[in-house]
Amino acid sequence: MRVLLTSEQLAAGIERLSRQVSGSVGDRPLIVVGVLTGSIVLVADLIRRLEGPVQVSMVWASSYRGTATRPGELELRLDLLPDLSGYDVLLVDDIFDTGHTLEALLDELRRRGAACVRSLVLLRKQGRAEVTIEPDYVGFEIPDEFVVGYGLDFDGVWRHLPYLAVLEEEEIAATRAARNAHANG
Ligand code: IMP
Ligand code: MG
Repeated sequence: MRVLLTSEQLAAGIERLSRQVSGSVGDRPLIVVGVLTGSIVLVADLIRRLEGPVQVSMVWASSYRGTATRPGELELRLDLLPDLSGYDVLLVDDIFDTGHTLEALLDELRRRGAACVRSLVLLRKQGRAEVTIEPDYVGFEIPDEFVVGYGLDFDGVWRHLPYLAVLEEEEIAATRAARNAHANG
């Protein structure tokens, strides 16, 4: 694995993002809505830098299956959300790749009566967007490589790394081979 962003660089990015968010908070109550599971580390670090009465909730989204590194069919679960009427919502996800996850979630949150919905992502992969919407706040632009750590996983693993690393092709292939060997007993 090759380190792309150290934990110090990530911390500086979160600090920058929290200042941008705090600077644009209005009079309405704010609810931060994290996207499980990739945003857990980011949400934990971000909310501790926000001021004022902030609420936190979670939704779940998944577009990957097993050892694939390209998105499949999008699945959403929003049943943990409270009533959003009158709230300013900040949707927080780990990465903006094709953008389909964020686009679908923003639609859902608006349909649920939120007064204003903005979006924040830690990372945006260059040259991958397939939608016209843009996140309101972006921590870092990264090249089109598969990254893990700081909440992001490959086949369910590596979310716990305190830094962001690029998973090399050999490592992806090795994980797939191990997974197949396990599946075939
Ligand atoms: P999108 O709908 O294509 O924008 O995909 C967003 C989701 O795909 C993110 O929330 C991540 O869970 C996942 N994803 C995209 N790229 C990566 C990556 O490089 N590493 C790990 N997960 C990724
Ligand atoms: Mg995710």
